[in-house]
Amino acid sequence: MSRVRKAVFPVAGLGTRFLPATKVIPKEMLPIVDVPQIQIGVQEALDAGIEEIVFITGRGKVSMVDHFDVAFEVESYLRDRGEEKLLAVVEEISQKARITSIRQKRPLGLGHAILCAQPAVGDEPFAVILSDDVIRSEEPAIGQLVRVFHAHGGGVVAGLRVEKHALSKYGVIDPSGEPPPAPGVTPLKGMVEKPKPEDAPSDIAIIGRYVLPPEIFPILERMKPDAKGEIQLTDGLRGLLEHTRLYAYEYEGKRFDAGDKLGFLEATVEFALEREDIGPAFRDYLRRLTDSW
Ligand code: UTP
Repeated sequence: MSRVRKAVFPVAGLGTRFLPATKVIPKEMLPIVDVPQIQIGVQEALDAGIEEIVFITGRGKVSMVDHFDVAFEVESYLRDRGEEKLLAVVEEISQKARITSIRQKRPLGLGHAILCAQPAVGDEPFAVILSDDVIRSEEPAIGQLVRVFHAHGGGVVAGLRVEKHALSKYGVIDPSGEPPPAPGVTPLKGMVEKPKPEDAPSDIAIIGRYVLPPEIFPILERMKPDAKGEIQLTDGLRGLLEHTRLYAYEYEGKRFDAGDKLGFLEATVEFALEREDIGPAFRDYLRRLTDSW
């Protein structure tokens, strides 16, 4: 089985939940404290041993590609002033990642965005990371899925148990009922997009990490757009099940939906509390704030 070397980051969405901030700034560039969400996602991929990053971008997303490029003026300014620590932080961003970017000309859905990655991915399995699902974990979440893929093949989606009332926000897995081949690994027979809680086939939602075989591409290519004019990844995954096995893996880690305002705030607070530089002062501030309520 081929090794997973590439990760696709679909970042061509319009980010309407974060308007007006996202009118000009891509939502993936909104920082959690001082690190843009896209950088947290790219770091996760690199930590998992991924060698090549493929951005699927859209209109107004050039700043994201620039972010990973050399920033000559900033770097020489910091060098001249002896700001070695900050310089290292800025230089590291451009040195570590090998990035290709492909333009999705119109936002025709997540499935279509992934299809756009085919020329860069070719005939090998690949990871997909939705960077607004920010995950804090010991082992990089995408690395956990890659491990399951290497052990069991097929395709792997990240599974998250959610409360019944919240299931209608997600794609939800339909387990096949076969015994799990390993702890936390559930074989699938299908999935349902945004079900009513009473119709949901399980309480395991699919979140933004996947490892997929290249067989997904011809399936996405043949698909007709849905009523909204979009090609949905969930439909593509259902098609994939006719050719290969799919598993959900309940990864270890805490996920924040940073594409949503409340999730963004939660991520910001928890990441800030963890930081050595500002964590202690921020903790004090939160204590004082709660005492004053
Ligand atoms: P979302 O459903 O979160 O949509 O897309 P969005 O546009 O990013 O944000 P909202 O809901 O309007 O606020 C899920 C992922 O798929 C990408 C997005 O960039 C995001 O990472 N996507 C979506 C594309 O790359 N292209 C598309 O046509 C649609």
